[in-house]
Amino acid sequence: MARIAVVGSINMDLVTTTGRRPEPGETLLGRGFEMVPGGKGSNQAIAARRAGAEVEFVGAVGDDLFAPVLREVLGDAGVGTRRLRSVSGPSGVASIVVDDTGENTIIVVEGANAALTELAPADLAAVAAADVLLCQLEIPLPTVLAAARHARASGTTVLLNPSPAQELSAEFWSVVDIAVVNAGEAARLAAPLESVAHVVVTRGAAGAVYRGPEGEVAQPGIRVEVVDTTGAGDIFTGALAAHWHEGPAAALAWACTAGALATTKLGASAAIPSRTEIEAALDRAQRN
Ligand code: RIB
Repeated sequence: MARIAVVGSINMDLVTTTGRRPEPGETLLGRGFEMVPGGKGSNQAIAARRAGAEVEFVGAVGDDLFAPVLREVLGDAGVGTRRLRSVSGPSGVASIVVDDTGENTIIVVEGANAALTELAPADLAAVAAADVLLCQLEIPLPTVLAAARHARASGTTVLLNPSPAQELSAEFWSVVDIAVVNAGEAARLAAPLESVAHVVVTRGAAGAVYRGPEGEVAQPGIRVEVVDTTGAGDIFTGALAAHWHEGPAAALAWACTAGALATTKLGASAAIPSRTEIEAALDRAQRN
């Protein structure tokens, strides 16, 4: 079983569903509203856990009404929360609008995630004990870099999902072993990605492509009824990390299947498939 450390964000997602997304200045009547725990770090941690890995989460919640719910969703999923701190102030929140095609727009207000400015020795020990460090860019960049540097020095593989997109230094890219990007990010980041050994490009319904020392691997997408694409990339990334030790082809198959299943329900963390569900879908895909 892979051991994963996630150093990342956790948010409460405030999800509004609507027929279509409003134009600037327009008011629409929505169809529904739900609060669903999310955040790229938390989504990826739960996805990795449900795909079969042992996961420790390093992050921060606030002291508001959302904090206990956010803490509980990680704990209920079996993700380690000893390194999840509580800070004063609001937890991270994301305002999400999902339209009838399943597409979304998201605005994140970082809240407690911004307070994750220091890594304690126990946080660094969790990183060093892991096979894979999984990180994103919804917490302060110096913290992500410190975690990645420590991982590199400890022999832990660094998997970066550079989202939301931000400018990163050459030094930052030099400590990344695996990058998971979407097609748009791959085009924008073409130059820095050349220094990364393993690059995985997600292509939505079309699946994903890997390039690295093992050559190129293309994994087609699986057909599903899309309800909401929120967090699909996170769930892809968590499953990829959990199965990385099996090699890129197997890891990509797990990741594409988990990511596709994640789009069949509303809400990022509400839609994370279990290992059994992923295995069943992989089986079906192989038989067809
Ligand atoms: O990737 C989806 C996630 O982005 C949401 O859960 C939201 O919280 C934002 O972090």
